[in-house]
Amino acid sequence: MTPTRTRNPFKPGDGQRPPYLAGRENEQGRLRQILADMADGDSPAANMVMYGPRGMGKTVLLNWLEIEAQRGGAEHNPIRTSWATPDELKKPIHMWNCLLPMNWKKLLKPIHWGTKFLIFSVGWKSNAAASPALVNTLIKECKKRPLVFLMDEAHTMDAGLCRVLLNVSQKVRKKAPFLLVLAGTPGLSHFLTTVGASFVERSTKMGIARLDAQATADAIVKPLQEDGITVDADALEDVVEDSQHYPYFIQLWGEALWDLAKEKDLKKLTSQEITEARTKIESRRSNFYEQRRATLDDLGLLPAAVAIATVFQDTETTTRDRLKEIIADNSPVDSLATQSVNEHLQTFIRHEFIWNPPDSILYEAGIPSLMTYVLDRQREHVQKGSPAAE
Ligand SMILES: Nc1ncnc2c1ncn2[C@@H]1O[C@H](COP(=O)(O)OP(=O)(O)O)[C@@H](O)[C@H]1O
Ligand SMILES: [Mg+2]
Repeated sequence: MTPTRTRNPFKPGDGQRPPYLAGRENEQGRLRQILADMADGDSPAANMVMYGPRGMGKTVLLNWLEIEAQRGGAEHNPIRTSWATPDELKKPIHMWNCLLPMNWKKLLKPIHWGTKFLIFSVGWKSNAAASPALVNTLIKECKKRPLVFLMDEAHTMDAGLCRVLLNVSQKVRKKAPFLLVLAGTPGLSHFLTTVGASFVERSTKMGIARLDAQATADAIVKPLQEDGITVDADALEDVVEDSQHYPYFIQLWGEALWDLAKEKDLKKLTSQEITEARTKIESRRSNFYEQRRATLDDLGLLPAAVAIATVFQDTETTTRDRLKEIIADNSPVDSLATQSVNEHLQTFIRHEFIWNPPDSILYEAGIPSLMTYVLDRQREHVQKGSPAAE
């Protein structure tokens, strides 16, 4: 039997909802509870900060939350949502467009002189970013209809604007149901502490990490089953292991297996197909890794990356102090003259080489197996560069 769908249902890429959203039951449960409380008029206790290395499924979860909040449509569901990304949000004016799409312009009192345009810009300046009139209107609006404001890629926000948004959010949340959800890479946590809003430390943190083995298997098997395709138990075990439970790789695997089943007109996939699919996946994965390795190289961080990767060969987690020692011992002297060890550590986190999941003081590998890739390339490099060793 060939797959009944004519198009591959798997979605390896950026933010596209997978055919089966696996393993996020805890996160979904927590978010559903917050929505239910808001629908009852209760304010959430804090902002929500969702973070994890790219490819883990933050955007997908944010999309899910938006749909969940809008469930039932405006008539049956009191919750309103607004979605923004930093590239659309350059000035407070853009932020207010999202927060109060209908109201905010009316609230900027026309100030005597000039054309409409001047009135507008002068009015804007005098009504500073977090004008009480705008904040009060937002409070009133949220009392009528709670708002969930979703900001993806929040680590790339303008710091000043982020501070304004956090301040507005704090003022509104105290009086009305308003939830600010910021999603971003592991660098988001540090970014938020640098924007100077101290209460940010009290945000609700939600780490978006790899799935467990069962959820990984479900994410692959369930969509295949819908098209009558099954995978041998041994073969599935290999796929689950090779995907490293990393959502992006899971979709790559699903896509390759579905294509093979269709191409070969198979309804049962065995180790033979897994071997074939692996070749295809390897080349896409190498491209993905190579881009990240090149970035570390451009930043002069490759020697320290190799040293960190070497340590992670024998352990799954390590401490911040140990990482700092490794970075100090393996960074060129001139780079340490311009940037502190801490700054280098933040750069590794920003580039998702390592990260520190919430609820843990230990650091683990960011994008899975990027470390193995970095080490493999280093070995090749050493072999090529030192013929004497042959
Ligand atoms: N829970 C999940 N189960 C299966 N696949 C997922 C899941 N979450 C995300 N994906 C897939 O993983 C990839 C990365 O998701 P995305 O939301 O773009 O990650 P991020 O925003 O963290 O970079 C996409 O191909 C997406 O379809
Ligand atoms: Mg994303």
